[in-house]
Amino acid sequence: MNLKDLYIDFFVRKGHKQIPSAPVVPENDPSVLFNTAGMMPLIPYLMGQKHPYGTRLCDYQKCIRTNDLEEVGDTTHHTFFEMLGNWSLGDYFKKESITWSFEFLTETLHIPLKKLAVTVFAGNDKIPFDEESYMKWCELGIPESRIVKTTEDNFWIAGESGPCGPDTEIFYFRSDEEIPEVFDPEDNRWVEIWNNVFMEFFQDNEGGVSILPHKNVDTGMGVERTTAILEGVNDNYQSSIWKNVIKKVEEISNLSYFGNEKSMRIIADHLRTAVFISADASGIKPSNTDQGYILRRLIRRAIRHAKRLNIDINSNWEEEIAKIILRQYKKYYKELEENESVVLEVLKNEKEKFNRTLEKGLREFEKVIKNNLCLDALTAFHLYDTYGFPIELTQELAVERGLKVDVAGFQEKFREHQELSRTASAGKFKGGLASNSEIEIKYHTATHLLNAALKIVVGPDVHQKGSNITEERMRFDFSCDHKLTEKEKQETEDLVNRWILENLEVTICEMPKNKAISSGAECMFIEKYPDVVTVYSIGEVSKELCGGPHVKNTGELGNFKIKKEEASSAGVRRIKAVLEENN
Ligand code: ALA
Repeated sequence: MNLKDLYIDFFVRKGHKQIPSAPVVPENDPSVLFNTAGMMPLIPYLMGQKHPYGTRLCDYQKCIRTNDLEEVGDTTHHTFFEMLGNWSLGDYFKKESITWSFEFLTETLHIPLKKLAVTVFAGNDKIPFDEESYMKWCELGIPESRIVKTTEDNFWIAGESGPCGPDTEIFYFRSDEEIPEVFDPEDNRWVEIWNNVFMEFFQDNEGGVSILPHKNVDTGMGVERTTAILEGVNDNYQSSIWKNVIKKVEEISNLSYFGNEKSMRIIADHLRTAVFISADASGIKPSNTDQGYILRRLIRRAIRHAKRLNIDINSNWEEEIAKIILRQYKKYYKELEENESVVLEVLKNEKEKFNRTLEKGLREFEKVIKNNLCLDALTAFHLYDTYGFPIELTQELAVERGLKVDVAGFQEKFREHQELSRTASAGKFKGGLASNSEIEIKYHTATHLLNAALKIVVGPDVHQKGSNITEERMRFDFSCDHKLTEKEKQETEDLVNRWILENLEVTICEMPKNKAISSGAECMFIEKYPDVVTVYSIGEVSKELCGGPHVKNTGELGNFKIKKEEASSAGVRRIKAVLEENN
């Protein structure tokens, strides 16, 4: 059994329910592009909401971190990784969590005690020293010389605000050298493999700390790193996770991994991430913004490195590599099976698009750098605009030649360009499509009605989990543990339409957040709102914290029709609906 299977098996035996990985794109949080930790999709439950699967959960979650995308190429960095996690939502706490981690490491993975060390929270002016964890580790046999207390590194929070708490981190001695008696977390032969966070606090945007309704446990263990450690390799890309992919790259390029590590790692890593993004439920396609731009950059950088290895980039090399990745992971992620053709299509289309200009762009690059030490902004922009070179790619090319790029100048040109296209499209749409946003406003109001209707028809536990509105339709995700019956769907639709016909007035008022919540106003993520909030009410039927805008009267909406009801993720259903014009 591999690490993932062993882990899930272990925690299921400890009474945990396995939950499926959420999509890589967060469904409820537009402030981040991708899920970067296993706990992110669980934030509402860590905040106190009841999870449909219970209070003990475990999973492997697809995570993407792109802040050090350019670092990929060394032995440890990956843009995509899987994070193993086990959670207690107000169930067990420190003692059990630490005991089970210890048991899993020493009995299931057979890691010798002498190779382990830990850190625990030393305490600060707000939260005391975590004596309980310290004592538990001692009791389990970790010598005191291998337990270090820190303050800064033993408090975990995702970003600036949210559920958080002291943690205890477990380290493994990754070296054949003699193990020092005293553990020094700064000594990089000690590698962190597991983080157990004791989430009992909530930090708001101003740094204020309050207590969560439950004491939770949130843990995270990186599959790539731990697998490499267990297999005794110092280069993650030489572990069993990457073996077949790297072998394929060697075969296609007719080159050995050794001597070409950087390009091969980039190709392997970037294509794996591209496969997972394009297979994701969010349906991301390469583009020039947000997640789509990351996807584009990954594919284009992989292509550039394939070219460096003299791979014929017009052949189906990317497909061959992607198929190995798909085969390896589809047992764990059904979307890879379901969306295989989408994935291959995305990669192929983007490859063909970039291949049309790559050669010419590279020639242009060679021409301009001949007599220059710095690539000016105009050239960098030209490479972007005409040849589709992401600025990061131009930078990478320049660095390889010891050149600098005027990135700030490029950004300036980029902004000017965006400004121009915005003005142009505003001009283009003036008149004819001026009502463009009106329909979106209508859909927005309809989501409030749908939310309220579901609470009546399905039950008060229904909560909004996300929404997405286009000019054509609305999408609404909500917590619910079952597929809606035809009757439930019909009743929901009828109720929304009844409220529409009742011409209910939509009113807005500002009030303190606490008051809004105690008055029963619905909100998705309490922590995301400022202290004074706007509350939209629709007649007597709906009251929600919301930024608006909304129609003034439900009579403006037209006829509401549910087009589709489907699963979105664990315990979350998705409704797609439209507003039809009344005849
Ligand atoms: N959320 C914790 C982490 O990502 C477990 O390290």
